[in-house]
Amino acid sequence: MGLFSKLGDGIVCGPSILAADFAHLADEVRRAEEGGAGFVHFDAMDNHFVPNLSIGPVVAASLVPATGLPVDAHLMVENPDNLIPAFLEAGVKSISVQPEAVTHLHRTLDVIRSGGAEAGVALNPTTPPEAISWALPYLNFILVMSVNPGFGGQSFIPEMADKIRRLKEMTDLPIEVDGGVNADTAATVVEAGAQALVAGSAVYKGDPATEMRRIVDIAQRAAGKV
Ligand code: DX5
Ligand code: ZN
Repeated sequence: MGLFSKLGDGIVCGPSILAADFAHLADEVRRAEEGGAGFVHFDAMDNHFVPNLSIGPVVAASLVPATGLPVDAHLMVENPDNLIPAFLEAGVKSISVQPEAVTHLHRTLDVIRSGGAEAGVALNPTTPPEAISWALPYLNFILVMSVNPGFGGQSFIPEMADKIRRLKEMTDLPIEVDGGVNADTAATVVEAGAQALVAGSAVYKGDPATEMRRIVDIAQRAAGKV
């Protein structure tokens, strides 16, 4: 079972490696794992869908065997269909696409799931939850972007807590949240209903194990798990 399918009513937190030191990637991930990370969030950017360029399937193929954590790929790219087979081949466990960049979403989600990964949609801050109503049966999770995709280190957009609440009224699918998640915002998103928290700069601004642990503890407390 995948990360999201087996989540139940649990909470999981993971680092976004966009903020990590890429010269020591496996180590940076290991440090976050020591701090309680349950997955690794992998941001692919193409300088078209977003004005930034990051990493792709070649790096994913190196990272997957270097960590015991499931790798969760977030494709902020135009034409994600071109890259999904290579990410599946790399062994990532979940893939989210931005529906704003996809013409045939049903087909794209089907390709991800037939390849053995969990499928998600990542919603830009102004993309309405209703845009994905008809995709819900084909999804394993929903990623709420709480910043505009493209860069780490941005501030959490507060209205995204209401968006998480709205999505929870529509579906039981687990909600992942990405962007501006830190020790100050983690409780808010968990209280709104998010179950998977991605944190980049908040984890790698200091000692990754300590900073990850801080967010995990806050999230678990907000969920009433401790
Ligand atoms: C933003 C990426 C995020 C980013 C989060 O486009 O999708 O995953 O790395 O970074 P922070 O946690 O610093 O906002
Ligand atoms: Zn991301």
